[in-house]
Order: sequence, then C-alpha cells, then structure tokens
Amino acid sequence: MRRFNRNISRKNTGCVKWDMIEGDKSKIIPFSIADSDYPTAKEIEKCLKKRVKHPIYGYSYPDDEYFDAIINWTKKRYNYTIDKDNIIPTNGVVTSLYYAIKHFGDNTDSVIIQPPVYNPFYSVILDNDKKVVKNRLLKENNYYTMNYVELEEQLKAGSKMILLCNPQNPTGRVFTYQELEKVVDLAIKYDAFILSDEIHCDIMLDSNEFVSVNEFADRHSKIAVFTSISKSFGLAGLKTSNVIIKNKKLAEEFREFLRHKYISFGNVFGLTGVKSAYNHAEEWLDKQNIHLTRNFKYLKEFFETNYPKVGVTKTEGTFLAWLDLGYLGMSCVKMQEELKKMGIIINEGRRYDEDCRGYIRFNFACSQKQLKLGLNALGEFLDQYKD
Ligand SMILES: Cc1ncc(COP(=O)(O)O)c(C=O)c1O
Repeated sequence: MRRFNRNISRKNTGCVKWDMIEGDKSKIIPFSIADSDYPTAKEIEKCLKKRVKHPIYGYSYPDDEYFDAIINWTKKRYNYTIDKDNIIPTNGVVTSLYYAIKHFGDNTDSVIIQPPVYNPFYSVILDNDKKVVKNRLLKENNYYTMNYVELEEQLKAGSKMILLCNPQNPTGRVFTYQELEKVVDLAIKYDAFILSDEIHCDIMLDSNEFVSVNEFADRHSKIAVFTSISKSFGLAGLKTSNVIIKNKKLAEEFREFLRHKYISFGNVFGLTGVKSAYNHAEEWLDKQNIHLTRNFKYLKEFFETNYPKVGVTKTEGTFLAWLDLGYLGMSCVKMQEELKKMGIIINEGRRYDEDCRGYIRFNFACSQKQLKLGLNALGEFLDQYKD
C-alpha cells in the first residue's frame, strides 16, 4: 500500500488541482477537484513509458485490443456482456453527456437530474437549451435515497430523459439493483431515456458492489452508460472515455452522430491508458479501494470523535466526502475563504445544489499524511466556532 501513501509534488506540472489556484498557493493543499494525488499503477506507468519510447506520436485509433480490454473488464467487473459494436470511444464524459442529450433528447425539452449532483450536469442540459428538472435526493441520517414519487410526477409531466449519476458525486451513494430497477420501470412506463454517468464505478468502499443500469438493458433499450479510466486509475489528464449502449441500433446512430460532430476517438496515450489499466491494473485498483476505505473510515471517526455536529454522509463509492457544516450557519463563500486561510481548498456545496450552502465536498484520494493535514486544518477552522 506504500504507493498510495507516497507524497509526490504536483506543483508546477500544469495541474488543475494544485496549480490553478488564485493568490499565494505555496502553502495550500487542495482537497477539491476529483482526481487522486498518488501515482497511478506501476503497470500503467510502464506501458505509457514504453509507448513514449517510440518517438512517433501520430494519429491513433482504438484497435481490437482496445475493445477487448473494455469487453473483458465489463464482464468481469460490471456483470454484463457487450461486444465491440456497443462501445463508442470518446474524449471525455462531460463532452459525451452533452452530445448524448443533444442526440437522444429530441423529444424532450427538459432533463431530470438528482441534486445534489456533479455541477456540469446543469450546464450540459442548459447548453442544450433544455430545462433542468430537479428530482432532489432525500436525506435521512446522512444517507441519500431517491424520491420515486416525485420522479414519476416529473415523467408524467413530460420529461423524457433522466440523467443519473451512479456512483453519485458528491453524496457517494452506490445505487442498489432494487433502486435502479424502480427507475428503469418508471422510464419504461413513460418511455424516457436514461443516461447514466458511471465514471466512478470502479471505486467501491468496504464491501459495496456496483450495479450498472446496463444490467437492465434487455428490458429497456433507451439506456446509455458513460465510463472512463480517469477517476479509477488517476488518468483524468488522458481525456479518454467510452459510451456503452447495449442497443446496437442506438449505438450505431450515436456513433454516426458523433462522427458528424468531429468528436475524435481517443489520443495515443489515452488508448494505451485504457488497455494497460483494464488489462494489467486490476490488483492496483483493488488495493486503491482498500486505501480509500481506510481513508474514509479515518475521516468519519475524526469527525465523530472531535466534531460530532458535522454531518458525514456515508460514502459507499467514489473518493468524495460530503460534509454538512450547516450548524455553523455560515455562507459557502465565507466558509471557503476561511478554509483557504487555514491552508486547504474544498468544493463548496452550492455548486451541486443551491440548497446545500452549508456543505463542503472533500476529496480524500491522497496519502494518509495529506489527509491528516487536511482534517487538522478543518478541525482548526471548526475549533473557532466551538461553544
Ligand atoms: C460524475 C462525473 N462525471 C464526469 C466527470 C468528468 O469527466 P471527464 O473529465 O471525462 O469529462 C467527473 C469528474 O469529476 C465526475 O465526477
């Protein structure tokens, strides 16, 4: 597990998380943007280095080895089978979501999302000139569930598209088979399209098991799933993702649609990244999940022991903690400013839902040492408001 506890400086590497910080960043530790701060798997590093050694980096394409890597991974890890025709390589999940709404959303002027949720979900809908319909998740005992009654009303009112996030960013929920089945049943009843962003699907804490909505594709053809190596293997900079559509006719139509949008299908290092990650880095991934499980346990106990008023949402998947600091009665902006003074950067809750102004999102994909520094800084901030 030593690889996950290595502290390698990412400063001055053109890193969004560490370098794109306003003001004096010399003593700042970011716990913000969802990528990890430890090195990727050795096996991936080796494959990329091997490719770098060949000094011609021309146009490249996803060959059979690329598709086989995804087919085998999907069967082994996600419990459903696909073939090459079901896979559409793309260069980013958000880009793919934007175009999927454009292509499959012809018959709807709105899209349902489940806040609090990853903020670009709002913009990909609005930029398609469609309305955002909020089917807010319900919260009880720091645990989020879906509101099916409201979802049905919204579908009945005419929304024909649901944009799911599973595992859910920022709440860390991993939806169960039964939960997803209810959504699929409603989508069938109201003929709605399901887009499921499953970018975090490889990152499972404890014994949680991931269920893809594609497991229901034999019952409902209008399903598109979005995956990537970026979060799972710390390869976000390679900008490589895949859309998986079980219905071959819909897959072919979407592939053709993207061709006319001039969306390229990968870059030389992204293609190598996919093959090496899925073919050689499974053991690393499982170890990462153990490391992240430990980090989350530490974080949860830290707040339970020292700051029990902080609501720690139960993260089941992802490396994101969703913390309710609402008891402080402080605005998001102030909280973020104060935390920056303490030396850390987090993401403010209102990005994910305007109702979540007392929340912060805290990324714990880092070494134990860095995690402790971050939690201690958070603790110092909270100490100022202890009664
Ligand atoms: C749920 C979710 N979808 C998509 C993305 C970004 O994907 P990409 O960089 O492939 O556009 C993220 C990154 O944080 C995410 O959390």
